[in-house]
Amino acid sequence: MGISDHTLALLDGRRAVITGAGSGIGKAIALAYALAYAQAGARLLLADLDAARADSVARRCRALGAQAETVAGDVGDEATAHRIIERCVQAFGGIDILVNNAGMLTQSRCADMPACMWDEMLRVDLRSVFLCARRAVPHMQAQRWGRIINIASQLGIKGSEELSHYAAAKAGVIGFTKSLALEVASDNVLVNAIAPGPIATPLIDGISAQWKRAKEASLPLKRFGQAEEVAPTAVLLASDPGGNLYVGQTLGPNCGDVMP
Ligand SMILES: NC(=O)c1ccc[n+]([C@@H]2O[C@H](COP(=O)([O-])OP(=O)(O)OC[C@H]3O[C@@H](n4cnc5c(N)ncnc54)[C@H](O)[C@@H]3O)[C@@H](O)[C@H]2O)c1
Repeated sequence: MGISDHTLALLDGRRAVITGAGSGIGKAIALAYALAYAQAGARLLLADLDAARADSVARRCRALGAQAETVAGDVGDEATAHRIIERCVQAFGGIDILVNNAGMLTQSRCADMPACMWDEMLRVDLRSVFLCARRAVPHMQAQRWGRIINIASQLGIKGSEELSHYAAAKAGVIGFTKSLALEVASDNVLVNAIAPGPIATPLIDGISAQWKRAKEASLPLKRFGQAEEVAPTAVLLASDPGGNLYVGQTLGPNCGDVMP
């Protein structure tokens, strides 16, 4: 395969679902896909709890030449997760790429954590990944091409005080990624995770400025990442042939915080 063939393959039109696409990393991935697939025209289904934010990202994707539809709703809900995948199939005739990105952040020491806080974290950050993937996989297996990209976190590898529920959910995402990858790789459905380090998005707005300063100082890069610096990893994992050899991996755009 020559270099021009590689380029054409990367730009081949794909149908992608991105959850949590209204903000931060999900929004950056949506815009990066719209750009990466611009020549063939990306077809994007953007899902988010916040309909207005998803619609605004969809408008920006359309301005870049993509087709973009939105679904508003909670990805931790089984019926909604199914509706998101089926809307992509209905609108675009199938699904090639699923980016399980939606996530939330709450904070408590384990001893003080109400069980409802634990349950809600696992519902939104882990159960949703299973629900959307389970619905998407048969479509991808039938066409013998699929990419599932789960947004985990480095905290799923290293753990964190006051975030035991978040770290447990994200460690669960990494274990789920490896397990599903083993089940479907032979059907050319490749499942991988991205475990970002601290990224400046609204997710971490609530964390104190003092903590952020200390954290930045401790990082080898001495700064937090930007969402636009995470998105290219999601483009790589979705691309063909660039992403073809990644199976069950966890890639770490993390400013050097974790070196597995
Ligand atoms: N920002 C970081 O430092 C960081 C680091 C590692 C991993 N991550 C992960 O990256 C992903 C994206 O985070 P972000 O930083 O872009 O956050 P963000 O808050 O900017 O965006 C998250 C999006 O998900 C949506 N969302 C939340 N709960 C939802 C639900 N139940 N159903 C549908 N949509 C929902 C929100 O409305 C929001 O638009 C998350 O999974 C997060 O855990 C973030």
